[in-house]
Amino acid sequence: MYAFRVIGQKKLNGTIEIFGAKNAVLPIMAAALLTKDPIHLTNVSYLSDVMILAQLLESMGMKITQGQNEITLQANNIMSTHADYDYVSKMRASFWVLGPLLSRFGHAEVSLPGGCAIGTRPVDLYLMALKEMGADIRVENGYVKAVGPLHSAEIFFPKISVGATHNTIMAAVLTKGTTIIHNPALEPEIIDLISLLQKMGANIQGIGTKTLIINGVEQLNGCTHAIVPDRIETATFAVAAALTQGKIFMRGARLNLISAVADTLKKSNIRFEQQTDGLLVDAQKATLTATPIITCEYPGFPTDAQALLTSLLSLAKGESLVEERIFENRFMHIPELKRMGANIRILNSHTVLIRGVSELSGATVMSSDLRGGVGLVLAALAAKGESIIQRIYHIDRGYYQLENKLQQLGADIQRINLPD
Ligand code: EPZ
Repeated sequence: MYAFRVIGQKKLNGTIEIFGAKNAVLPIMAAALLTKDPIHLTNVSYLSDVMILAQLLESMGMKITQGQNEITLQANNIMSTHADYDYVSKMRASFWVLGPLLSRFGHAEVSLPGGCAIGTRPVDLYLMALKEMGADIRVENGYVKAVGPLHSAEIFFPKISVGATHNTIMAAVLTKGTTIIHNPALEPEIIDLISLLQKMGANIQGIGTKTLIINGVEQLNGCTHAIVPDRIETATFAVAAALTQGKIFMRGARLNLISAVADTLKKSNIRFEQQTDGLLVDAQKATLTATPIITCEYPGFPTDAQALLTSLLSLAKGESLVEERIFENRFMHIPELKRMGANIRILNSHTVLIRGVSELSGATVMSSDLRGGVGLVLAALAAKGESIIQRIYHIDRGYYQLENKLQQLGADIQRINLPD
C-alpha cells in the first residue's frame, strides 16, 4: 500500500505544468461513442480514472491509442452497449456512457454507479431526463436497462447536476428535434464538452446560460480537441503556495477558471498574475486570514476545493465557518486534520467551525477520498515535522504523480511502500 511521507515547512518555488481537467476528459471520452470517426484529445493527464474509463470503452469495442499526454478514441466497431459493474463501480463517471450509447445505438445496459465516500450520489436526475426523452428505463439487478428511440423534450432540472447535464446533452445531440435543458450545470467542464461536441458538428445554443437549446443532427464527425486545464489542480497548487509562502508558476493554468478560489486566497494577501502561457501565484507575503466558505455550483466556490481551503484555514488567524452544500459527507479529512493539531468543530454534517492555530504538527493520517486526501497533503506541507499520508490511491485518481510536481517545487515528499 503506497503512502506519501512529507517533511513540512519547505517553501515551494518554481514552475509546474497543469494538464487537462479530469472532470472534462472523462465526459469527453464518453462523447467519442457518438461518432464512428476518430476523436483526438490533447493536453490529457494520465490519471487512473482516465485509464479505468479507457478500459471500459475498450471492453465495448472502442479503439484507443495513447501518446504523450494525448489519446485517440474511435467508436467505429462498438460490439456491446453493456457497461459492466466492474468498471462503473471503480469509477462512477463511467455511468456517463449511458447517454451517448442510447443516443447513437438506441439501447444501453449500464451498471448503477453506487455511492462513494462523499455521498450516496443518486442518478435520479439522469433517469428523469432520459424518461422525458422517451427512453424505456428499467432498473434491474443493479443495472439501468434503457431502450430508445429518444425524442426531443423540454427538460427542467429541479437541482443542478454536472453529471446529469453531461449525460442529457450527449443524449440530445443525435436526437431529432429541439431539446431544451433548463437549469443545466455551468461548470467549465460542461462548456468544454459542448465545445468538443460543436467541433463534432453538434448544434447547441445558449452555452453558459441557464437554458441550453440542442437541435439534434443526423451524425457527428471526428475532431481534435485540447482538454481545458484542470482548475482544481490549479487551486491545489495555489493553496500549496499559500501554505508555504512560496511562488509558483503554473504553465497552462488559467485564473478565470478559479475565480472563486482566487478571490478567497486574495484575502490572505496572495497575488495572482495571468501570463500568456500560465498563471503566477505569489504567496511570499501571505498572511493567512480567516474567511467563511460556502460551496455551491459554478461559478460559486467549488466543492472540490473545500478540503484544500479547510487545510489552509486551519492555520488562518481567526474563525472560519465552512459550509459544504453540495455533498452530504465531505468532511472526512477533518478528524485527520485534528490529529495534526487543527482546531475544528463539526457543527453538523454540512458545517464546520475552524479556529486557526499557529502551527500544525506532522502525523500519520489517512485519505478517505480524492480531495480530502490532497487536503491532508497540503496540511502536511505546512506542518512541522514528518507526516505519513496513507491510502494515496484516492489521490492518484485525480493527480498524476503529485509528488513529482511537489518535489520539483522544493517539497520534501516521497512515495513510500507501506506493508499492507
Ligand atoms: C461532478 O460529480 C464531479 N465529478 C465532482 O468531482 C464534483 O464534485 C461534482 O460534479 C460537483 O461539482 C466529475 O466530473 C467526474 P453532481 P457529479 O451530479 O456529476 C446530487 C472530484 O473530486 N445529485 O453535480 O456526480 C448529488 O448527490 C469529483 O473530482 C442528485 O441528487 O456531481 C450531489 O449532492 C467529486 N441526483 C449534487 O447533486 C442526481 O441524479 C451534485 O452532484 C445527480 C446528482
